[in-house]
This record gives sequence, C-alpha cells and structure tokens, in this order.
Amino acid sequence: MQEVVTPPSPEQQELYWYLHYHMGWVDKEFQPTGEHTGKRLRPVFCLLACEACGGSWKQAIPAAAAVELLHNFSLIHDDIEDGDRTRRGRPTVWSLWGLPQALNAGDALYALAHLALLRLTEQAVPAETVTAAMRLFNQTCLQLTQGQFLDISFEERGDVTPQAYLSMIAGKTAALLAASCKLGALVANAPESRQEHIQAFGHHLGLAFQIQDDILGIWGDPKETGKPVGSDILRHKKTLPILHGLGQSEQLGSLLTKSEITTQEAAQAAQMLQEIGSRDWAEDQAREQTELALSALDAGDCPATLALQDLALELLGRVR
Ligand code: IPE
Ligand code: IPE
Ligand code: MG
Ligand code: MG
Repeated sequence: MQEVVTPPSPEQQELYWYLHYHMGWVDKEFQPTGEHTGKRLRPVFCLLACEACGGSWKQAIPAAAAVELLHNFSLIHDDIEDGDRTRRGRPTVWSLWGLPQALNAGDALYALAHLALLRLTEQAVPAETVTAAMRLFNQTCLQLTQGQFLDISFEERGDVTPQAYLSMIAGKTAALLAASCKLGALVANAPESRQEHIQAFGHHLGLAFQIQDDILGIWGDPKETGKPVGSDILRHKKTLPILHGLGQSEQLGSLLTKSEITTQEAAQAAQMLQEIGSRDWAEDQAREQTELALSALDAGDCPATLALQDLALELLGRVR
C-alpha cells in the first residue's frame, strides 16, 4: 500500500500526507506513527480466500492492497457524508483539513486503489484474470456508492423495512467483503462455482459485520471502536437495532424520530432499545448471517477453509 500511495512530485506532498494520515501511518503533524491503522480485515479475507482455493497468497497481494485502499477511500467520504469528526480514535480528514480537500483525498485514494489492483500483472496473473478482477472491482465501487445513497436517503424516511435495510448494507458493506473474497479465489484460478460460494461467504459475513457495526454504534465503547457513540441515533440512521425498536414501541418511535435529538435523549433511546430487546434481536441476526456465511463456505468445498472459518467466528464477538 505504501508503494502505491507515494507522491509523484514535491508539490503533491501534502495531499499524500492526508492519505498517510488517514491510513494511520503518520500523525496530524505528519510524523511517523503506526497506532491508528484499521483492522485490515478485507485484505486478510482476500489472502485467506486465495489460499483456501489452493492459490498462493503472495500473488494476491495487489488485490489485497487494492481492497484496503478502496475501503479507506470509502471511509474518508463516509465521514464527510455522516458528518463524523472521529475515526480510529482521531479527528477525521475533513475535520482537520476541510471538506473540499477531504473530497480530493478520497478521490485520490479511489484512483490509487485501482492502480494497486493493476499491479496483479506484475505477479504473473493472466491478463484475462486481471480484466475480470477490474470488472468486479468497478461493479463493487458502484454497489458501495449505491448502498451509501440508500443509507443517506433512509435518514429522511420512516418506512424502511428490514428487507430494504438488508439491501442497503449489502451495497455499502457486504459488496466489498464479498469482492475481497472473490478476488482471492479469482487469483487462485478457482472454478467459477467455487468463486461464487466464496463470494456468498463474504456477502453474508459482510451483512453480519455491518449489523455488528450498528450494535457497536449504539452500545460500543468509543475507546475501543475509536468512533463516536450515539451518532447513528442523532442522525436518524435506520440501523438494524433502531428499525427493530421503531416497530416495537410508540414512545421509543417518537423519541427516535424527533427532528432534533439531544445526546441525553440518544442515551435514553439506547437504554430503551436494550430493554425492549433490540440489541439481542440484532445480535441474533448477525449470528444467523454468520451461519449462512459458513454454509456458503462449506458448499464451496475448498481445499483449506479453517482459517476463514476461524476468522468469521472470531468476528462475532468483536468489540471494535
Ligand atoms: C468500518 O469498517 C466501516 C464498515 C463497513 C462498518 P471496519 O470496521 O473494517 O474499519 P477499520 O478499517 O477496521 O477501521
Ligand atoms: C459503512 O458505513 C460503509 C462504508 C463506509 C462504505 P457506516 O457509516 O455504517 O460505518 P462507520 O460506522 O462510520 O464506520
Ligand atoms: Mg459512518
Ligand atoms: Mg455511513
């Protein structure tokens, strides 16, 4: 990733500092640090999927770098869209250097992610596989953006169904996790049906992952998540526990749909949601999606899936 995110000339240095900052490689004075990187789950799934299909993980490194860079592009823009000032325990790019330059930083990372993927050609991956990888990558970018579109449009809507929610998170989150897995299988030159099972594994795991993100967004410890707590409630996000709560209690419904919610009211809503069983219900949904993911993995009948299974199960109890 560092090889790809390198300034082409000294006059572009500052733009690339913003990117290094967001990636967690430097602090806001642009001094080296390594304390605020993400979990890098998507690249790990990509490399493990490649190994699971009998490929060599080293060959998939450009794809792994590409999915992590693309993920980070989406976070820079997501923090602008959600108005969040904190990510990974630090101020977000837009809150430090302003919205216009944060847009540019995100755009640069988006393009760099594509260039990272093209480095598959340097790993002796056949040209037609690289083309298929690029098609999948672009389709994924589109699904992600479409999911983000729905996420934001749902803020204003009171009629969001659990089904509509699932298709929103399938776009904004699961598409990239599914693609990360499929890219690994693609590089390993796995048969088409196995690629699809691995993709379905990533899809269901991505749904489980976002449901947990929703839970952590309400009840997580900001010291662990590095993100503001309660901001989903304040912004009228239709996350899964909130959707459940809206359907359960009128009192809670009127609190959650107030045009201006105070932080005190958000804390009160979080407590009511917990009492009403919305947290338990959402946890069950995450567990169910993880089981669907493991069944899809099973159906793929890959030579070596133990590491993928372990990681999928480990994610269920995550606190960050
Ligand atoms: C955050 O993803 C955005 C979601 C899709 C929920 P991660 O929780 O993987 O973020 P980092 O990269 O580890 O910070
Ligand atoms: C996750 O969005 C999906 C993308 C960033 C594309 P969220 O808004 O739910 O994620 P967090 O909680 O800010 O990380
Ligand atoms: Mg967000
Ligand atoms: Mg968002």
